[in-house]
Amino acid sequence: MSDKSSGSVIPPRGDPQDAVHGSRRTGRTAAVIPAAGRGERLGPGAPKALRPLLGTPVLVHAVRAMCRAEAVSLVVVVAPPDDPGAVTEMLAPAGLPPGIEVVVVPGGASRQESVRLGLAALPPDVDVVLVHDAARPLVPAHTVDAVAAAVRAGAPAAVPAMPVTDTVKRVDPDPSRAPGAPEPVVATVDRAGLRAVQTPQGFARQVLAEAHRVHADTGGSEGATDCAGMVERLGHPVVLVPGHEEAFKITRPLDLVLAEAVLARRETLAHDR
Ligand code: C5P
Repeated sequence: MSDKSSGSVIPPRGDPQDAVHGSRRTGRTAAVIPAAGRGERLGPGAPKALRPLLGTPVLVHAVRAMCRAEAVSLVVVVAPPDDPGAVTEMLAPAGLPPGIEVVVVPGGASRQESVRLGLAALPPDVDVVLVHDAARPLVPAHTVDAVAAAVRAGAPAAVPAMPVTDTVKRVDPDPSRAPGAPEPVVATVDRAGLRAVQTPQGFARQVLAEAHRVHADTGGSEGATDCAGMVERLGHPVVLVPGHEEAFKITRPLDLVLAEAVLARRETLAHDR
């Protein structure tokens, strides 16, 4: 369902508890894109979100991905706090669709803090929030819309996920072990019961706001790296919807190569049509 045309007309709500848990949500859907990370695993250079993919910054691809979704009518970009103006300037010539509002706010020291600052910038008529890593610039629109639809239909939280294809072993992490030293295996995990989660993670706004209120960031550099995990700890049910292989996260240098290959294939397919 699209809410791009719904403007600011919000039908009255019933029991506020129902608005969180059971009934369909009727306000707007906003995407919050935390993009304030340094991305040190990519090696030296610009912050990860600002690196180019076929000449266009990762973040611009991620914003376009959110704008392409039917459900999204507002995008809040959480920028590196030392220079949010650079992000505003980068987005200005990006040719984003005119019907979608894009707002830039400065981020924080951890992803969790950056998400909290993005949430604080949302107008009152937003009742569904999609939190999307800038580092997943190629997520298809139908995956974004599937997440939003699950939350609109009443789920407190919905997350795209993929089956785990590698066999997974459990080890006992020992910080005193030298990097690269052999690690004893403790167990082999049954991968049939495992899923690898992606973003956007979708939430009833009140649920996500509650999670950020209750699990205040302790100020470390890490914070919570997964909003859905914070919501689970509050006892709210989280559902998984099918993810997509192109929604992978750019973390290491090889991921940049893969992302450019995916973009090149999309351009070829569009050209051949
Ligand atoms: O580092 P990692 O890949 O886990 O970061 C996930 C997302 O969180 C990235 O889009 C990154 O820009 C964002 N982030 C942030 N603020 C931070 C740290 C990470 O917005 N302080």
